[in-house]
Amino acid sequence: MNGSLPDHHNWPQPVLSYSEAVRELHATIESEWDSVKQSACQTAAGRALWNHVVNDPLAELFAGETYLKNLYDKIKKDRLNNAPEVSGVILAVRTLWFDSKLELAVESFGGGGAQVVLLGAGMDTRAYRLECLKESDVYEIDFPEVMQMKHTLLQAAIGLINEPTMIAKSLRRIAVDIRDDDWFKKLMESGFIPEKNTVWILEGIIYYLPHSQAMGVLKIIADNCRITHTVLLADFMNKQSTALSATNYHFYSDWPDQLLPSLGFSDVKLSQIGDPDADYGLLHDPHNLFNRLRGLPRSIQNHPDDGTPCRRLYLVQASGSPNGS
Ligand SMILES: C[S@@+](CC[C@H](N)C(=O)[O-])C[C@H]1O[C@@H](n2cnc3c(N)ncnc32)[C@H](O)[C@@H]1O
Repeated sequence: MNGSLPDHHNWPQPVLSYSEAVRELHATIESEWDSVKQSACQTAAGRALWNHVVNDPLAELFAGETYLKNLYDKIKKDRLNNAPEVSGVILAVRTLWFDSKLELAVESFGGGGAQVVLLGAGMDTRAYRLECLKESDVYEIDFPEVMQMKHTLLQAAIGLINEPTMIAKSLRRIAVDIRDDDWFKKLMESGFIPEKNTVWILEGIIYYLPHSQAMGVLKIIADNCRITHTVLLADFMNKQSTALSATNYHFYSDWPDQLLPSLGFSDVKLSQIGDPDADYGLLHDPHNLFNRLRGLPRSIQNHPDDGTPCRRLYLVQASGSPNGS
């Protein structure tokens, strides 16, 4: 099963040799950052180790050796044991889903580019890797430490990697905690224009926020639908998923497809990992966890076969515009 994936001998290994400067920066991340900020590097490690399907040449640099090694060891073990799902596959599918929906969203605006705002951008590199963004202005938002470190790592890597070329028309990094009330004001001060077509990317972020702040963020985006064509791409955990880390995960929605219309979005589509638009040929084993979940009504909280919690990650696309389309 999972026959099209490389086997445990042939899984692509990290190739980058880190300079002393890059090693030291990653040592700082490991010793000084909390686990929420460190999740930025963990997701980069996922993209780096699934690079046979995800094109992200900067992911290795941003991941750091420790996260790469941890995930690589898990992947090798999974492949050796013929596991029905391989570690990191969720990140690979999620990245591909966001990439493809982002491309469609930008196209749907009919040319001329868009604004793309990434909340909790972490080590995202879409501004450097997606051709569809060449006419778009990209805004990355994350904690000051994360935004600064991203810049410093890129500087430290000059000579180690080919200088990354920006594809997006522009990229601005906004250092702010989105739990603070002034994050939208800071986005505006950085050049964001509410009247311009906008795609909002909330990838791996909304569940880190307390309920009221998550709702506040979604409301601000929904309010923007009244001003301009707006597309929201976001992943939501259901309640059972947030139990995986009571300290880090807070906000959940079992029914984001009902929540978002109630806030003002007019068109909402929900996918689960393994659905036809969220599979990418990476989930061959019919007994994989995702297929087991997709076969059950979403209202079911524990699997009837073995009582395990139904932990779901919803990939959600929502849109809105001043004329309600
Ligand atoms: C799991 S990572 C996802 C990063 C990126 N979106 C990706 O998919 O690679 C979560 C990111 O959200 C950021 N984050 C969490 N809470 C935040 C907050 N309150 N304000 C700003 N950024 C936050 C973290 O620093 C981290 O970079």
